[in-house]
Amino acid sequence: MSNQPTTDVMDRIVALCKRRGFIFQSSEIYGGINGFWDYGPLGVELKRNVKEAWWTDMVRNREDMVGLDCSIIMHPQVWKVSGHYDLFADKMQTCRQCKKLFRADQVWEQLKGAPWVLSFAEACCGGAPAPQPLQFNSAAAMAWAKAKGRKLAPGLALVRNTEATLSWLAEDLRNNPEMQLGVTTLLQYMATEQKAQTGLVTPCPHCGGDLTEPRDFNLMLESYAGPIKDEDNKVFLRPETAQGIFVNFRNVCDTTRIKVPFGIAQIGKSFRNEITPRNFTFRSREFEQMEIEFFCHPSESNKWYEYWRDLRYQWYVGLGLRSEKLRLREHEKEELSHYSCGTSDIEYAFPFLAAGDFGELEGVAHRGDFDLRSHMEGKLVNKDGKLVLDLGPDGKPKYRGSGKDLSYFDDERKERFIPHVIEPSAGADRATLAFICEAYTVDESRPSPELMKFHPRLAPIKAAVFPLVNKDGLPEIARPIYEEIRKHYPAQYDAKASIGKRYARMDEAGTPFCFTIDGQTKEDSTVTVRDRDTGHQIRIDKSRCLEYLREHLAPA
Ligand code: GAP
Repeated sequence: MSNQPTTDVMDRIVALCKRRGFIFQSSEIYGGINGFWDYGPLGVELKRNVKEAWWTDMVRNREDMVGLDCSIIMHPQVWKVSGHYDLFADKMQTCRQCKKLFRADQVWEQLKGAPWVLSFAEACCGGAPAPQPLQFNSAAAMAWAKAKGRKLAPGLALVRNTEATLSWLAEDLRNNPEMQLGVTTLLQYMATEQKAQTGLVTPCPHCGGDLTEPRDFNLMLESYAGPIKDEDNKVFLRPETAQGIFVNFRNVCDTTRIKVPFGIAQIGKSFRNEITPRNFTFRSREFEQMEIEFFCHPSESNKWYEYWRDLRYQWYVGLGLRSEKLRLREHEKEELSHYSCGTSDIEYAFPFLAAGDFGELEGVAHRGDFDLRSHMEGKLVNKDGKLVLDLGPDGKPKYRGSGKDLSYFDDERKERFIPHVIEPSAGADRATLAFICEAYTVDESRPSPELMKFHPRLAPIKAAVFPLVNKDGLPEIARPIYEEIRKHYPAQYDAKASIGKRYARMDEAGTPFCFTIDGQTKEDSTVTVRDRDTGHQIRIDKSRCLEYLREHLAPA
């Protein structure tokens, strides 16, 4: 039995998701659209269960939490004051030859696996990954440029202008005999046609062309509200659900009796114009977030930060993510978002990552009073009171806040303050993907080796009912059992195909229990219950099926 993390495993997971109707590429019949995904019949149930589990555990079962459901499009000023308009950007580089776009922080990672780089390294440096310092063979490079390079890297300076490009390197090596050549520098030399003007440039992972300097690329998707498409009507699709919560803080305080410390929770769609959406649903352009903004007294904020960080980590463990595949990682100071004075990521070892690497599942951030203060005063300040954005030409904050009082008066403390905020911000799609990856199991001892070991709370279908054969009075017994179960749990009835095939289908769907009605049922009123994970079967009285599920599943 294995569920080892390899790229091959990821390919098999993606194939199962499509084959069994968990996740489809959006607009697939038109060739798909990059960064957008559709959830099929099983996937929609699974993702709903993830969101339900979150809402039940974080909102319904807590006295200190209320919910909210805000609009996706908000007043554009929200995004100016929040900092997203000016700061929510990725650095991007464009290829001057093929015009493709790359995230600056991913270029070298992509170059490592680029076909032309692998081919070049093999021909000219004795293979990849090449040793440091490199043994570079200039004659081989020339031959490579004129043959394979033309096909694989038409944009590369070495291919377009072989002699001139090699001459920079030869000249620099002559002038500086101590110079040690690493892969990065060598590739930069190979991409540099006019070294005097440009200095060394970075090559394009796709065609080898030269990339522009990194430039800011704002990730907010834009649209227009109203009939006229001009600047006045420009709006943004929200890149996070959090701001809807902040701008409603006053409304919630005024309309409920809840008192600080308390949280406001929201589940909803967010949109980001990601430059390179990738890794299945992990980085999409449309996705759902499950966010909490927890408001507390500044003196208690560190305590609440630790509380939420640990509680959220445990939530994933409780739903079946193994702790050896999960980790909590405290951000380095340079890594912190513009608003944050402390953030931990909850990370999961997704199978598409290299061994030992982890991907973000959820961020838990200590945001200080940044958001409420900004929406009040229009100042973008962090915890130390330092301005994050420049002031406008008149020396006033660049963007005006709402001017509304978003402070809080604490009756018990007899004190007015701007609450500090702890934000556990999870992605519903990333969580669903992690649960899918964790559930995926291969058991070669079974006739159909792939099964999905979902936690019972998350399983899209909780039980299946099968008459062994579709005759001899068995359907007449099976059908009422199924009708009773489905009043309480999502269940399926299946009377077609061999019993082995029916079990295999349910294993792939992750259904924890299958009840089979057979010849013996007519004699002693018992049915078999098969356990998905072990394949073991026991017999119980047919009247006990629902009770059995109640004992073995959490409430649906
Ligand atoms: N309000 C804070 C915030 O939005 P974030 O770290 O940018 O923080 C929170 O996003 C979570 O949203 C991430 O941990 C991830 O689970 C999910 N998320 C962010 N960008 C995503 C994307 N492009 N595709 C899928 N999920 C994404």
